[in-house]
Amino acid sequence: MKDLTNEKILAAREAVKLLVDGQIVGLGSGSSAYLAIHEIGALVKNGLDIKGVPTSQKTKDLAESLSIPLLNIEDVSAIDITIDGADEFTEELHLIKGGGSFLLKEKVVALLSKQQVIITDSSKKVDLLGKFTVPIEVIPYARNYVMTQLETLNGTGKIRMDGNKPLLTEQGNYLIDGDFGLIKDPASLAHELDGIVGVVEHGLFIGIATKVIMGSGDTAIVFQ
Ligand code: 5RP
Repeated sequence: MKDLTNEKILAAREAVKLLVDGQIVGLGSGSSAYLAIHEIGALVKNGLDIKGVPTSQKTKDLAESLSIPLLNIEDVSAIDITIDGADEFTEELHLIKGGGSFLLKEKVVALLSKQQVIITDSSKKVDLLGKFTVPIEVIPYARNYVMTQLETLNGTGKIRMDGNKPLLTEQGNYLIDGDFGLIKDPASLAHELDGIVGVVEHGLFIGIATKVIMGSGDTAIVFQ
């Protein structure tokens, strides 16, 4: 049986080799990113001189607990490299992200970054995106309207719940998990979602990632 945690650790260890002194480093969210942040914490302890930009409160708390110096996104206009996870990726480096609900900040940080390095286990590689639903962050007022628009795109949506209430993102929005079946043209779907009033952002990351490092067995494979 595959040891997916070990694959994530292998990918994280490979990714942090890309870090050099003086860089501003985007710190992703999710279990893979947290493994990388632990590796970065150890490197910082041994003298690596970087500053991190967190993509969620949980990431911020973890980085602070490891004494990784941080910058506020408000004080940053470019990031050298970001290390983050993904829910699915293709060989073209198209991604679905947002399983952990942090897609908005993750996309802002990724877009500010010269390099977005994605670390995953081998279960995340797919030929076509879409088995994992596409997280769509919407303002609460627009949720029903957005649902109707997903239907025009041959999709269905479910509001992500936290117990018996809609889950609130860090921005106070709702998440709709959109099911479009297997997505043949993710760029076009991303474009359609961008155009729906009330959609704040979605988890299709198209043309953003520069490298995916995937743990596979006892090695790490690089896609770029
Ligand atoms: C959080 C994300 C995560 O990167 C994604 O859900 C992958 O998580 P994990 O590393 O735990 O498998 O996009 O919003």
